[in-house]
Amino acid sequence: MSAAELRLPAPRRRWEAVPALRWGVLGTGWIAQRFTAALAASTDQRVVAVGSRGRASAQRFAGAAGVEVAHDSYEALLADPSVDVAYVATPHHTHRDLALLAVEAGKHVLVEKPLGLDAAQAQEVAEAAATRGVFCAEAMWTLFLPRLDVVRQVLERGLLGDVRTVLADHGEHFEPGHRILDPALAGGTLLDLGSYLTALATWVLGPAEAVHASGQDAPAGVNGQASALLAHVGGRRSVLHTTLFSVTPCTAVIAGTEATLVLPRRFFTPGDVELLAADGRLLDRWSDPEPGDHGGLHHQATEVAACIGAGRTTTPLRPAADVEAGMRALDEVAARLGVSYAAAGTG
Ligand SMILES: NC(=O)c1ccc[n+]([C@@H]2O[C@H](COP(=O)([O-])OP(=O)(O)OC[C@H]3O[C@@H](n4cnc5c(N)ncnc54)[C@H](OP(=O)(O)O)[C@@H]3O)[C@@H](O)[C@H]2O)c1
Repeated sequence: MSAAELRLPAPRRRWEAVPALRWGVLGTGWIAQRFTAALAASTDQRVVAVGSRGRASAQRFAGAAGVEVAHDSYEALLADPSVDVAYVATPHHTHRDLALLAVEAGKHVLVEKPLGLDAAQAQEVAEAAATRGVFCAEAMWTLFLPRLDVVRQVLERGLLGDVRTVLADHGEHFEPGHRILDPALAGGTLLDLGSYLTALATWVLGPAEAVHASGQDAPAGVNGQASALLAHVGGRRSVLHTTLFSVTPCTAVIAGTEATLVLPRRFFTPGDVELLAADGRLLDRWSDPEPGDHGGLHHQATEVAACIGAGRTTTPLRPAADVEAGMRALDEVAARLGVSYAAAGTG
C-alpha cells in the first residue's frame, strides 16, 4: 500500500463475554462520581458499595448515585463479601496503601492513576497483587479508549514508518482549594496531568534512557509546570509539557517517517484521530461516536471485568512494565525539578 492510500482502522471489540461484576468504590470525590455514572450508563457493571472516611459522605454518595451500601471506612468496604472488585479513587499519596489493603483483603483492584507516588511504589503494588493472585491495574483510562485502539493498531502495523517523535501537552485550570494545589495531598502537575504524558510517550517509544527537564513551582508550593525532553531507544524523542497555569490544547502527535498521527484536543479523552501523510496532507480521520468526555471511563471497567472473568490478574492494555516505564520517567523529571512528595505522608 502506498503512503497516500493509508487509512485508519476501526477500533476492535476485545471481548465477547464480560461478566457483570460487583464494584466497591473507595472515595466519594470527582472521579468516583464520574466512574460510577459511566458504569451505570454504558455497562452491566454495578457499583454495589461505596467506602468513605466519613459516614455522611458515604451516604450522600450512595444516595446520589443509587448505590446500595454505604460504608464509613475503606476497611469495611474491603471486608464486604458482596464486592468483587475495588476501585481506588482517592488522592495520589493514598494509592499504594489502599491498593495493598485491597490486595490483602483478597479483592481485585483498579487503582486510579498513578499506581503509586513513584515507580517503586507502583512495582510494590503490582508484585503484591501477583503474589496474592488477584487482578490489579492502573486506571490510566486513556489506554483503554477506542481512540487509543485505533492508534495501537496503526503502531502494530507499522503504518507510520519509523516513529521518531512524540509531542504532547496537558495544561488545565484548577480553582483554589483543589487537591492538585495541595502539597499535603501530593499535589502538583507531574503526578496528575504529567502522568498522562509519560504514559503515552513510553507506551509509544519505550522506556526513557535519558531525561532533561525544567519546571516552575506554583505559589501553593507544588510543581506548577514542567517541560521534559525524553530520549528513548534509537535516538527517538518525546517532548512533553504540562502546566497548572493555563489551559493548553492537550494535543498528542506521534510522528513517523511515512505518516503522522494527531490526537487533537484532550488526547487523553474520547475524541478524534487524524492521519497525516508525510507531506502534511490529511489522509483520514476517525471520530469517536461516543459522546462525552468522562463517559468513556467505562471502557477500563469492561476490560477489568473481562480479564477477571477470564482468570487473568493483569491486562495487556496496561501491563506493570508499562506502568513502571511511565513512572520511572516521571521520577526522573521530578528529580531534575527537585520535586518531592515527602510533605504528603501516606494519607
Ligand atoms: N481519569 C481521569 O480522568 C481522572 C480525573 C480526575 C482525577 N483522577 C484521579 O482520581 C484520583 C482522585 O481524584 P479526584 O479529582 O476525584 O479527587 P477528589 O475529588 O479530591 O476526591 C478524592 C476523594 O478521596 C477521598 N480521600 C481519601 N483520603 C483523602 C485525603 N487525605 N484528602 C482528601 N480526600 C481523601 C475523599 O473521599 P472520602 O472522604 O469520602 O473518603 C475524596 O472525596 C486521583 O488519583 C486523580 O489523579 C482521574
